[in-house]
Amino acid sequence: MKICVVGTGYVGLVTCACFADLGNDVIGVDADADKIKKLHQGEIPIFEPGLKELVDRNRGKRLTFTTDLKAGVQASEFIFIAVGTPPRENGEADLTAVKQVAAGIGQNLNGPKIVVDKSTVPVGMGDLVASIIEEHSAHQNKVDVVSNPEFLREGSAVHDFMNPNRVLIGTNDTGAAERVSELYAPLEAEIMVTDLRSAEMIKYASNAFLATKITFINEIANLCEKVGADVSKVAHGMGLDSRIGPAFLSAGAGYGGSCFPKDVSALIHKAEKEGYDFRLLKAVVAANQYQKRSMLARIKEVLGPLEGKQIATLGLSFKPNTDDLREAVAVEVIHLLQENGARVRAYDPAAMKLAAKALPGVKLAENAYAAVAGADCLVVFTEWNEFKEMDLARVKSAMRTPVIVDGRNIFDPQKVKALGFKYRGVGRK
Ligand SMILES: NC(=O)c1ccc[n+]([C@@H]2O[C@H](COP(=O)([O-])OP(=O)(O)OC[C@H]3O[C@@H](n4cnc5c(N)ncnc54)[C@H](O)[C@@H]3O)[C@@H](O)[C@H]2O)c1
Repeated sequence: MKICVVGTGYVGLVTCACFADLGNDVIGVDADADKIKKLHQGEIPIFEPGLKELVDRNRGKRLTFTTDLKAGVQASEFIFIAVGTPPRENGEADLTAVKQVAAGIGQNLNGPKIVVDKSTVPVGMGDLVASIIEEHSAHQNKVDVVSNPEFLREGSAVHDFMNPNRVLIGTNDTGAAERVSELYAPLEAEIMVTDLRSAEMIKYASNAFLATKITFINEIANLCEKVGADVSKVAHGMGLDSRIGPAFLSAGAGYGGSCFPKDVSALIHKAEKEGYDFRLLKAVVAANQYQKRSMLARIKEVLGPLEGKQIATLGLSFKPNTDDLREAVAVEVIHLLQENGARVRAYDPAAMKLAAKALPGVKLAENAYAAVAGADCLVVFTEWNEFKEMDLARVKSAMRTPVIVDGRNIFDPQKVKALGFKYRGVGRK
């Protein structure tokens, strides 16, 4: 089938590559000429495992890239919208890019189309997209707007796209639902068809629920510290209950990233607009903010005043296997460390290029061992396997004082203490 994907970021580029690999003709459109130039040269602008192989296999054959929205729209039956919906200052989703794309689709219609919204947008946006397209189109063409929220996770995006828990298709038109279902048929995944607005809500409800689950276990972790319990054991015991499940019960330094913070805020904002006070989610935001800042308190607890202290931070991205620094906890806490007079040397396996811009004044180390050299404290922000497998005896001999603050509970407290480290995790004795 002929598909155009507008927006070639984390979601859009994966969508392009996966649909092309499934045998469709795909045109990826992006307003960022630099990004398109890189893609033409075979360079992948983001770090995402397995993506380059997929793009290389299809590029120039079933997969092409352009900045020309008109060309993409006119050559395709399906137009996916996968542009960003970043947060505004007041928490609401900034829908400027989605609206621009909708207007562009309307202006360039040359026949019936199915417009599929993959961007995360507040409930009601699908209807607005349909009316913007109609407003901008000179001729009468049948255009169906379908919501198809994306649930992939950065770091395993290709795998998640190809093996989804479910494919969600939101539309009030059965013909459009069938056509979009056909695109996903090769995945043999469970397809749920529902109305447009329910589909839009399912995406926000899912992300808000996951953010709440993480925040809940973080709150339990904080209490564990006070009562002498171990949150890893508590989470394991809770997760064995089939009504709860083990996922998203790892206590740590708080959630960040390009989705949870913005989607929770956007849902609170949408509720407010509708005259509903979403008390629970407001508490989640406040508790997560507390959790991030509590990392500073944990570091001070083991180090004392931070003035002049050398701190090594491992992991900058909001989770392993991605270079995405949007709303990353590490970036926020590093700024606090600097404000408190500490000197920071950081290392991340994938995000160093972006870190140079996001973290002025922070020294960037070549590798994890170089980061810890001469440090008074090592702080773990992201649970990359590479950090879990470090030679801790080597780390200890490189540091000035052997202190670990483990923001993701990746080390065994008994083992690191036996090696002579002072250790502070989250929610553990
Ligand atoms: N990143 C994730 O893990 C993830 C997962 C599920 C859903 N989502 C949602 O998917 C959407 C995209 O997220 P992302 O992380 O891929 O964003 P991104 O910032 O990585 O990519 C967005 C792309 O859209 C392009 N763009 C912006 N305006 C444009 C326009 N007018 N015309 C053409 N291109 C334009 C940008 O240049 C950029 O390349 C968001 O709504 C997000 O909430 C993201």
